[in-house]
Amino acid sequence: MIRKCLFPAAGYGTRFLPATKSMPKEMLPVVNKPLIQYGVEEAISAGLINMAIVTGRGKRSMEDHFDVSYELEHQIHGTDKEDYLQEIRNIMDSSTFSYTRQVEMKGLGHAILTGETLIGDEPFAVILADDLCLVDNGDDTVLAQMVKLYRQFRCSIVAVEEVPMDEVHKYGVIDGEMIRDDIYQINTMVEKPATEDAPSNLAIIGRYILTPDIFEILRNTTPGVGGEIQITDALLKQAQDGCVLAYKFKGKRFDCGSIAGFIDATNYCYKAFYSE
Ligand code: UTP
Repeated sequence: MIRKCLFPAAGYGTRFLPATKSMPKEMLPVVNKPLIQYGVEEAISAGLINMAIVTGRGKRSMEDHFDVSYELEHQIHGTDKEDYLQEIRNIMDSSTFSYTRQVEMKGLGHAILTGETLIGDEPFAVILADDLCLVDNGDDTVLAQMVKLYRQFRCSIVAVEEVPMDEVHKYGVIDGEMIRDDIYQINTMVEKPATEDAPSNLAIIGRYILTPDIFEILRNTTPGVGGEIQITDALLKQAQDGCVLAYKFKGKRFDCGSIAGFIDATNYCYKAFYSE
């Protein structure tokens, strides 16, 4: 079964400069909770208990976030402010956290390969915390939907969403044969295609389930678009050699790596969870 969730979180977050100069993008709060915590909560909701985080220079605050803060806890002990820390306490009690550093930021594929040391030889999930995925109360989270699918198909799965054609150049884009409602067996995948070269408008978003043979494929993957080692290229090889599924998930996704997406997520979460 899938126990581990990898969080590639070493990117520079240049679209959020200067906010991300000395602060990780993954620690930007949507209302009062950092993006990485939303991701971890989603992993826990899918039954995963081991969080494996790929960090980089200047990203230590993520490690501190998932640890106790004795001084702060002493300060608010016995006050009603203790409640504010209850959620994060529960997370720390129900899961483990391990970290490794990506020394050179050579792309998402390279970040995932860097995480091999934390994952080992077992299937695992990947969450890109800057894609915030939300579902209606009581519904399975996006990762929980994918874990259920993995139990049936036992192969790598990517989450996809239909995007407007003039936005396909921002994503990895797939094409494939629909084998069931919302499930495609992938036969083509292109990273950041021009509109006219895109095989469809089904864009890969930041949720994956990967089988561990992906590591060997990544080791042999040469840099692609932007000089980076692309997970899309490795997944295409995996699809050609065996099977990779694309799953059109149920739920909402906010691209919190972009300013507009981040603001949309903030407004949505404030209305949904915080306003009276
Ligand atoms: P992005 O390209 O969205 O993130 O990578 P970025 O590079 O941090 O952001 P911009 O474009 O400069 O604003 C997708 C995910 O992959 C991680 C990022 O942290 C993000 O979660 N990533 C990317 C790495 O961990 N290492 C890399 O070398 C590249």
